[in-house]
Amino acid sequence: MALASAAERVAAEFEYSKEDVNRGVQAFIEQMDEGLGKVGATMSQIPTYVTAVPNGTEKGLYMAVDLGGTNFRVCSIQLHGNSTFSLTQSKVAIPKDLMVAKTSHELFSFLAKQIELFLKTHHGEHYQSHVERKASMIGLGGYKDEEIFSLGFTFSFPVQQYGINKGTLIRWTKGFDIHDTVGKDVCALLQKEIDALSLPVRVAALVNDTVGTLMARSYTSPGKTGTLLGAIFGTGTNGAYVEKLGKVTKLKNMGEEAGEIDESTGEMIVNTEWGSFDNHMSVLPDTPYDKDLDKESVNPGIQMFEKRVSGMFLGEILRRAIVALVNDPSVPLFSDEDSSRNDVHSTTIIDPSSPLYQQWGLDTSFLSITSGDSSSGLKVTRQTLDVDYGVSAASAEDAEAVRLIAAAVGKRAARLSAVAIAAVVISTDSLAKTGDDVDIGVDGSLVEFYPNFEDYIREALRDIPQIGPQGEKRIRIGIAKDGSGVGAALIALVADKAMRAGPPTEVTRRDSVVGGLSGLVQSFFGGLNRTVRMRV
Ligand code: BGC
Repeated sequence: MALASAAERVAAEFEYSKEDVNRGVQAFIEQMDEGLGKVGATMSQIPTYVTAVPNGTEKGLYMAVDLGGTNFRVCSIQLHGNSTFSLTQSKVAIPKDLMVAKTSHELFSFLAKQIELFLKTHHGEHYQSHVERKASMIGLGGYKDEEIFSLGFTFSFPVQQYGINKGTLIRWTKGFDIHDTVGKDVCALLQKEIDALSLPVRVAALVNDTVGTLMARSYTSPGKTGTLLGAIFGTGTNGAYVEKLGKVTKLKNMGEEAGEIDESTGEMIVNTEWGSFDNHMSVLPDTPYDKDLDKESVNPGIQMFEKRVSGMFLGEILRRAIVALVNDPSVPLFSDEDSSRNDVHSTTIIDPSSPLYQQWGLDTSFLSITSGDSSSGLKVTRQTLDVDYGVSAASAEDAEAVRLIAAAVGKRAARLSAVAIAAVVISTDSLAKTGDDVDIGVDGSLVEFYPNFEDYIREALRDIPQIGPQGEKRIRIGIAKDGSGVGAALIALVADKAMRAGPPTEVTRRDSVVGGLSGLVQSFFGGLNRTVRMRV
């Protein structure tokens, strides 16, 4: 078979039509509703107890750390109180062996060491004076430190939150798999390792990255109507949005499990955990490459939407599609043209030890490289194939075939992303509710680096009758770069104020209090001086 038509055939397997998009939106809205009504639904729809978003006037110096999928970031953030902030940050790749470590200690002690390094490098004086003061207090009946940094911990995995800085891991995603962390309080795990190093840091708040992104976007671009949705399209994917409190009906059935909620805004931010949309596969597309990827992943049958959308998986989908073509003797992909076509393995120009033959061997950044390649004869793609993937002397036709399939995988991901965005916009009735634009904050490597990702999203939004070309124009999508760090700092600020403001008796009285952010966030961001009411 000619290479071009073989590539077109594979690319067609990734087509996600207008009808597919609309079926997807319908199912997404149904599964959102189901998650709001009961615990344990496919889409978790986790109540965050955050009942308002910031307005840009918040001030102070805070720390934040972000355990995402690929990197661990440590930052300090100065909020200036005028919708701007300054950020100092360091970033380190999380070693792969720690993602599947035997014990939580291995991962969390690594994180604490990075915090120590950051403090020594960027806040050396503060750190040193803490060490000296601490030493001078030994034997004087205890050490009290007023200069402890409050830290917002962005932990980008599904967590059941039980308090402003308490929450247990529901399940790992994005290739992490450390059994003994599941069910544990991740803030306590981090605090323990911080204390073991005697660092002047208190884990003050636990935040999902999407909630942080929503907060950060609201802080930096406060509009009349505030931001509706914070979404991540990076290593993983997820969204948190502002929902009507009355629609989070499962709160009523949670009984003692639920904290009392400040109802004054009538809203609550809900962490959808949409990565697990349609785990039972009623509407999601399912090519043979998707099927095999899932079967051989650490969590088969879970995060099925994420496995078709996010950066952790797109490279692997493409790799599987390429290898399938390479292994098809009738398709001359990456073959030595001078040799006989009878035995494809003896004529391939791929190094046998190429990452193309290894699971997760193809990085998703390759999709961005090849989709954005405008060099003549796709020279950049061919060079990358050579240098990074051991494919010597790929032809322009080879590169074109790979690019075609990569573009199809990327476009399907963007159209699926549009399904999630549209479902949130439609189910909250946001276009009808206000004459203003609907504001959405996004972050993550895909939206940032994949060429035309937003254009593809917009194209799909126009395909949806409830949005259409008019509605699509009124949806404002803005990058909230490093949003989760700033958002975590904002929530740490709230937690800190609440702690210093006096004995937060109700909040800390019992460990099982759900939703420490309730009321606290509202009273701060809403500028209201209200009593925090928590059921214990
Ligand atoms: C996690 C979410 C997170 C998202 C983006 C997903 O795998 O389950 O909690 O928000 O990745 O980082």
